[in-house]
Amino acid sequence: MKILMVTAEYAPLAKAGGLGDMVAALAGALSARGHEVKVVLPLYGDIDRERHALAPCPGLPAFAVRRGGAVRRCRFWRADGATGPDVLLLENDELFGRPGIYGYAEVSEFADTLPRLALLAQGALEAAVMLDWAPDVVHVHDAAAALAAVDLACWSRAGTPLAATRTVLTIHNLAHQSHHPRWEFPGLDLPTRLAWHPGEMEFHGGLNLMKAGILLSDRVNTVSPTYAREVTADEELGCGLAGVLRDRGEAFSGILNGMDREAWDPATDRCLPANYSQRAPAGKAVCRTALLRELGLEEGGPLLASVGRLAGQKGLDLLLPLVPSLVGDGWRLAVLGTGEPALEQALHAAAAAHPGRVAFAARFDEALSRRFYAGADAFAMPSRFEPCGLAQLYALRYGTPPVVRRTGGLADTVTDAAEPGGDGFVFDEATPEAFGAALGRAIEAWREPGRWSSLARRGMAADYGWDVPAAAYEELYRSLEGS
Ligand code: ADP
Ligand code: GLC
Repeated sequence: MKILMVTAEYAPLAKAGGLGDMVAALAGALSARGHEVKVVLPLYGDIDRERHALAPCPGLPAFAVRRGGAVRRCRFWRADGATGPDVLLLENDELFGRPGIYGYAEVSEFADTLPRLALLAQGALEAAVMLDWAPDVVHVHDAAAALAAVDLACWSRAGTPLAATRTVLTIHNLAHQSHHPRWEFPGLDLPTRLAWHPGEMEFHGGLNLMKAGILLSDRVNTVSPTYAREVTADEELGCGLAGVLRDRGEAFSGILNGMDREAWDPATDRCLPANYSQRAPAGKAVCRTALLRELGLEEGGPLLASVGRLAGQKGLDLLLPLVPSLVGDGWRLAVLGTGEPALEQALHAAAAAHPGRVAFAARFDEALSRRFYAGADAFAMPSRFEPCGLAQLYALRYGTPPVVRRTGGLADTVTDAAEPGGDGFVFDEATPEAFGAALGRAIEAWREPGRWSSLARRGMAADYGWDVPAAAYEELYRSLEGS
């Protein structure tokens, strides 16, 4: 099949979280299965063109995109890959030339987000037209790319390569819906009825790109079966769209993400001071000692690590009140993350209060994240909600048993040590007490080295590759044929 993916993130070119990893891995897996996959993302100003061997597409001339009275000059760049998906980066200096995917530094969301997303959507569709390439499916990822499906649903496409194209929206996080004020609507050149109740984009008097994407895509899915159930059953997790998702009935489903087992493999990971595997695990101790030293932490107890965006979703507020008692129990604690200033401050304060025991690295650093997954003993992921979660999959793969809340994809991927095949620790209530009790069970298990290493070995053996999910997406695309 011919598949056009539209996305704001694509690892390693542009990544703010799991979205970038997921889209790159899915596109790679589909292409390896023989499909023709093209990916369109913006050429952000901080993408290193030399390092990624990017060059302007020779076959595609510069072009103009007209929308809402604006004319924007664009050009496509291409990542130099002889195999795998064809990655096209949309260049427009005014909207994409600055650094940042959604925002930058203190700006969490750029003021011109809507024009940026409109250009991404239209540019992606334009690529298919210019290449005279007729995709069977346009697969859009999250609210940031949803407009491509909306455009396809609303604009006339007879006589173009997109005439028979179907659309799929994957929701990676329902908490980010891309809300905009209604006065921005004329800039979209979409039918006015969309913006007024009961129009598909209307949401409490404003605009909601996720809602429009959900209602106007042929199929909608999210990234785990449990999260798919939760967002339709629980109004809070549905973030105002539970009913809208329920209304899509069978057209909405959950497909569990995989992880790229080649890109995330402790046996070959070049960022680690030593490599190791399930069969030859000795290198993990080397990684651990090196990480403790790198972070200025003392030997003596188990190292609990966390890697992730510092956002309410990730539940780090459940960890903070536990810090003194965890340190008292012998834990060392290491957090890598950036995000909400209040959480950053609290983590800096915890590190200052417990020198040698608590470390906080307030930056986005992929190589360091890999040393965290490898060097830690246990991995903390107390998320309040989690559409899928890739961090816990990386922790499992690096032999670092995760301690997680039973929610979304965490519930679908981690099995509690008390159950057959257990590979981590799972708790239910979103309270420090429940999280603390799970950590108490974890440190008890860690004190029995034989028990701990069999837990870690089971996690390393868990197969969360892309074969099964890629086949599920194939089936989803096929279900659209002739419909
Ligand atoms: P989410 O997409 O909600 O952020 P996931 O668990 O799916 O959560 O994916 C998070 C991804 O982002 C993982 O690859 C994780 O290693 C990475 N990541 C998050 N924060 C950082 C950071 N500060 N430095 C490096 N990598 C990070
Ligand atoms: C989102 C979710 C995360 C998921 C990722 C990739 O960022 O928060 O749970 O793993 O997308 O699908």
